Amino acid sequence: MQLERLLQKHGFGTRKGCRALIRNERVAVNGEICDDPYADIDTDQLVFSVDGTEWPYAEFATLILNKPSGYECSRRPQHHLGVLELLPPPLRVRGVQPIGRLDEDTTGLLLITDDGQLNHVLSSGKRKVPKVYLATVKHPLDAAQVEQLLAGVLLNDEPEPIAAAAAEIVDPLHLRLTLTEGKYHQVKRMLAAVGNRVEALHRESIGSLTLPDDLKPGEWRWLSAVDLEKLVKSA
Ligand code: URA
Repeated sequence: MQLERLLQKHGFGTRKGCRALIRNERVAVNGEICDDPYADIDTDQLVFSVDGTEWPYAEFATLILNKPSGYECSRRPQHHLGVLELLPPPLRVRGVQPIGRLDEDTTGLLLITDDGQLNHVLSSGKRKVPKVYLATVKHPLDAAQVEQLLAGVLLNDEPEPIAAAAAEIVDPLHLRLTLTEGKYHQVKRMLAAVGNRVEALHRESIGSLTLPDDLKPGEWRWLSAVDLEKLVKSA
């Protein structure tokens, strides 16, 4: 692929802007400065760098983010910063979007991609991809609440009761809940339906993918090809 096109595909601006970056010797290919915008680059295992920052060649950008509290997942955030602000500009220019949404005050695992098909597969309710949440609740949990959550609770605007796929009391004020839908405020509404209240919410995993312990709030990383394949299989 032509170097100029490659940079543009990875979010480094217009063709003209990318050409200028290359001509100004700000771009290296596998460690060597390349100043020819039309050089034909082998994309297999390619790592290029712009101003010293390395980027893998990626047909699609799929990332995991440890979402901190205080960020919105919506396309046009209104009251807080958007989660995409946590990413470097080239990724935003590529048009990445969160897969599903977490509330502004929810923390934890958020997948972000510019792969529309992957987004569709993972967010489609039909696939029933399990998502595990750790909820901190206001009132001590009891077995009756867990039974109700597992049996199904009726939420406003939902025709049928919705059941948790799993619910485990971690300690009196912490519940680990597995859901296979992605309804609006689902955990909060389900806990409210059994007479409790969510005080804090954290997503630990989606399908086969668990938030890595060493990914701090606000940090992101590329999803490895192996993890991506496992995730898609688990969906
Ligand atoms: N359920 C909620 O209530 N909020 C979230 O952010 C995710 C699931």
